[in-house]
Amino acid sequence: MSLPQRYNRLAIALHWLVAILIGANLILIWSVNSVPDSYVRPMINTHKSIGITVLGLAVLRLLWRLGHAPPPLPTIYQLWERRLSHWAHIGLYVLIFAMPLSGWMHDSAWKAAATHPMYLFGTVPWPRIGWIENLDPVTKESLHGAFGRAHSLLAKVLYVFVVAHILGALKHQFIDREQELQRMLPGK
Ligand code: HEM
Repeated sequence: MSLPQRYNRLAIALHWLVAILIGANLILIWSVNSVPDSYVRPMINTHKSIGITVLGLAVLRLLWRLGHAPPPLPTIYQLWERRLSHWAHIGLYVLIFAMPLSGWMHDSAWKAAATHPMYLFGTVPWPRIGWIENLDPVTKESLHGAFGRAHSLLAKVLYVFVVAHILGALKHQFIDREQELQRMLPGK
């Protein structure tokens, strides 16, 4: 029996959904300083909703991954490339959890959180993290800054990992001439 050459449909759907949502979240936040004031709050609220959705999808991805081995890599890949790609994937898994969690923590420490309840996409009520929201105002204010800086720093790490991930995939596709992209694209 030959081993599968590509991820299954669920893994492919989750991969591209997370990629698109992270891309949308970055576009929202990059453009927030260039829009009229009345757009800012809805854009940040949408950013938060998309981020929480990514967190839910990250849990599904991790559960999928714990129950399935990925399709084997082509044997022509060097050992260092396999190791690098393995660690890059672990880093990306960590980041798809750490980005939303740090954002949620930052938002939970916001002094106006109590007067601005969060609704996912303006509909489903979503809680703040209780132990953070209930801290005294001074500690909360300093954590708000610290979590915000962590969120921002993690975003920079994310840029590096995403660029490395894309460059790695393109190298395998166009320099090694392997069917790399097909592993993560739907098709026969
Ligand atoms: C896919 C997940 C997420 C990504 C990729 C992401 C990315 C970013 C980036 C790049 C920034 C700009 C940081 C800077 O100024 O250097 C940011 C800001 C922010 N994020 Fe996220 N984020 C995510 C999830 C979340 C979540 C789940 C929340 C809250 C529930 C959140 C709340 C915020 C807030 C409040 C800001 C500051 C906005 C402002 O006032 O300018 N983020 N995010």
